[in-house]
Amino acid sequence: MASPLSFSTLITILIIIIPALLQCPVRSDDTGDQLLKGINSYRTTQNLSPLTENKNAACLAEQIAEQFKGQACSNTTGDDTVPGTEQQFPNFPDFLDQCHLNASVIRDGTIMPACVPGLEPNLLLSNFTKSQYSEYLNGTQFTGIGIADEGNWAVVVLSTNTPTGNYATVSGNDSSSSVALRSSLLLLMLGLLIVLLN
Ligand SMILES: *[C@@H]1O[C@H](CO)[C@@H](O)[C@H](O)[C@H]1NC(C)=O
Ligand SMILES: *[C@@H]1O[C@H](CO)[C@@H](O)[C@H](O)[C@H]1NC(C)=O
Ligand SMILES: *[C@@H]1O[C@H](CO)[C@@H](O)[C@H](O)[C@H]1NC(C)=O
Ligand SMILES: *[C@@H]1O[C@H](CO)[C@@H](O)[C@H](O)[C@H]1NC(C)=O
Repeated sequence: MASPLSFSTLITILIIIIPALLQCPVRSDDTGDQLLKGINSYRTTQNLSPLTENKNAACLAEQIAEQFKGQACSNTTGDDTVPGTEQQFPNFPDFLDQCHLNASVIRDGTIMPACVPGLEPNLLLSNFTKSQYSEYLNGTQFTGIGIADEGNWAVVVLSTNTPTGNYATVSGNDSSSSVALRSSLLLLMLGLLIVLLN
């Protein structure tokens, strides 16, 4: 059997590694990160506060990006969509369910798909900052943002900090906070174990 010292060293290592694994299940996404930085620089040049990441808005953006994936770019899609002719998805209520959202909490938000071959970063950013979408990026009412990309498509969802646009989950408790709770409980238990072992 291992000596108590090396065993508690092992536990200490686990304490450091396990919460890190639990809290970072999402893949890092360069396109999304760059677009977020670009949009926030744009906001700064407009003297507007930067947008903070809203996980639930990102969840809905992902559902919608999945639908657009595979569709070709055209002069009537993405940022060139003629207002009033936005693509409608009959299964939109399912997307909301999937993200634990309802129609009331997204009402004042906005959903902006863009199509750029290869998601070329500069073109992608200008598809938001130099198109009809700039009206929304200029909006003082928006405080949060969620971004997803699939294929040649990126979807940006903006949220507000009001009950009619904050993308709050229906249970009022998003999955990330329960993960945080679970990992703090785990930490506590491992901490107790160390105390007992010493
Ligand atoms: C889109 O492209 C088609 C074919 O190239 C052209 O006929 C049409 O006028 C264009 N529409 C707009 C809104 O630019
Ligand atoms: C958006 O991206 C397309 C490429 O799909 C490009 O042709 C167009 O110029 C871009 N629009 C803006 C406003 O940057
Ligand atoms: C957003 O603000 C920029 C800079 O002030 C301006 O050029 C652009 O036209 C605005 N967009 C809309 C849709 O008003
Ligand atoms: C939508 O969810 C919010 C937040 O949980 C809740 O306050 C509201 O009553 C719900 N609305 C509907 C129509 O279910």
